[in-house]
Amino acid sequence: MKKFVFATNNRHKLEEVEAIIGEKIEILSLKDIGCEADIPETADTLEGNALQKARYVYERYHCDCFADDTGLEVEALDGAPGVYSARYAGDAHNSEANLRKLLHEMEGMTNRRARFRTVFALILNGKEHLFEGIVNGEITPTRRGTSGFGYDPVFVPDGYQQTFAEMGDALKNKISHRALGVQKLCKFLNTL
Ligand code: IMP
Repeated sequence: MKKFVFATNNRHKLEEVEAIIGEKIEILSLKDIGCEADIPETADTLEGNALQKARYVYERYHCDCFADDTGLEVEALDGAPGVYSARYAGDAHNSEANLRKLLHEMEGMTNRRARFRTVFALILNGKEHLFEGIVNGEITPTRRGTSGFGYDPVFVPDGYQQTFAEMGDALKNKISHRALGVQKLCKFLNTL
C-alpha cells in the first residue's frame, strides 16, 4: 500500500483527509514518524507555507508527503486575514480573539464577500505538486453555531443559509475548501 506523511498533528484534519482518501492509501501523521517539531510557516503565501511544511518533512525523512495551509480571504479587507488567519489577532493562535477582531473590523461593512482557500503541497518522488480548494461565501454580522472550529461560526458558504458551525461536521467536511483540495489531490494520486 502506498504511504504518505501528512505534515500535521491536527486530528480533525487527519480524519477529514483519511475519510476522503479511502483505503488504498495509508496516511501517517507527524507523530507516526516521530517528528515532534513545530514546523515553521513563515512564507507570505498559502502556497509558500504548504511547500515549506512539505519540504521540511521531505528533507529530513525522505518520504512522500503532503502539507496544507488555509486562509480566510475577505474581499472588503483586501484579502485579509489570508495567510495570517491563524495569527490575525496576535501570535497566540487564539481563534476566539481572531473571530472577535474580524467581526470588529467588518462592523457596518455591506460587502461581506469572503472565501476559504486551502492549498495542498505534495512531494512525490522528489517532485512538487500544488492543489487548491476554494469555497466562496459571506461573513455574518454575528457568530452562529457551535460545531467546527476557527472562523466557522461567521462563514456562510454560497448556496446555504447556515454557517459552517451550524451545519455540523458531516456536511461541512463534504463541501469544505479542504475537502475540495483533498479531492484534487486524491484524483491525482489515483491516476498514478
Ligand atoms: P491552518 O491551515 O490550520 O494553519 O489554519 C489557518 C487558520 O485558518 C486558523 O486560524 C484556523 O482556525 C483557520 N481555519 C482553517 N481551516 C478552517 C476551517 O475549515 N474553518 C474555519 N477556520 C479555519
